[in-house]
Amino acid sequence: MATPESKTPGVDNGKTGVNMDFHVAPVSHLWLGRLVEIDANWNPKSWSVQLFEKELSSRSSRVRGLFAGDELVGYLIAHVVCDEAHIVSLGLAPEWRGCGGGRTLISDFFRSCAVERVASITLDVRVSNIAARKLYESSGFSVVGLRRNYYSDNGEDALTMRRDGRG
Ligand SMILES: CC(C)(COP(=O)(O)OP(=O)(O)OC[C@H]1O[C@@H](n2cnc3c(N)ncnc32)[C@H](O)[C@@H]1OP(=O)(O)O)[C@@H](O)C(=O)NCCC(=O)NCCS
Repeated sequence: MATPESKTPGVDNGKTGVNMDFHVAPVSHLWLGRLVEIDANWNPKSWSVQLFEKELSSRSSRVRGLFAGDELVGYLIAHVVCDEAHIVSLGLAPEWRGCGGGRTLISDFFRSCAVERVASITLDVRVSNIAARKLYESSGFSVVGLRRNYYSDNGEDALTMRRDGRG
């Protein structure tokens, strides 16, 4: 099993720019507990097992896992309806951040959008989430809207970002 310690990764440990040997694959129900665990680490409105289960079963959901060796270390969840995609959640376990995993997940999703002929990809991000905003901006997303008081846990605003699906 790959260990994060050997690569000095991490937003939480000091970003190093080291790129890990990640791979992206579909996530099965066997990983439900791990999905909940990763989500609970960053999401103030953390998702239940039932919510993840629903995503894994829904025809319009795309749930992609980031693996380091045989360990699930992150995930991206998006909804695809007709030619529009919306990224609803993206997160990495804290010790695996800052070494290319987020970008690996996003790039994998862009490839699947191209295959599905998605025209437009949108997402919402907390105004204060600088790491995520930088990832999205450097991946071709632009701010197209502001949703005031969007997050019920602290009343924070959300930026809505959009990117061409074919870009
Ligand atoms: C946001 C998140 C998914 C980014 O994933 P990551 O694996 O840490 O990011 P990467 O290592 O792939 O870095 C990609 C880019 O993101 C930006 N970035 C990542 N961490 C950053 C940080 N601490 N500060 C500023 N920018 C950062 C940079 O632009 C970086 O590009 P660079 O390496 O060329 O500078 C990850 O930090 C995370 O899981 N955070 C908690 C959950 C979350 O906030 N999800 C987003 C919800 S909208």
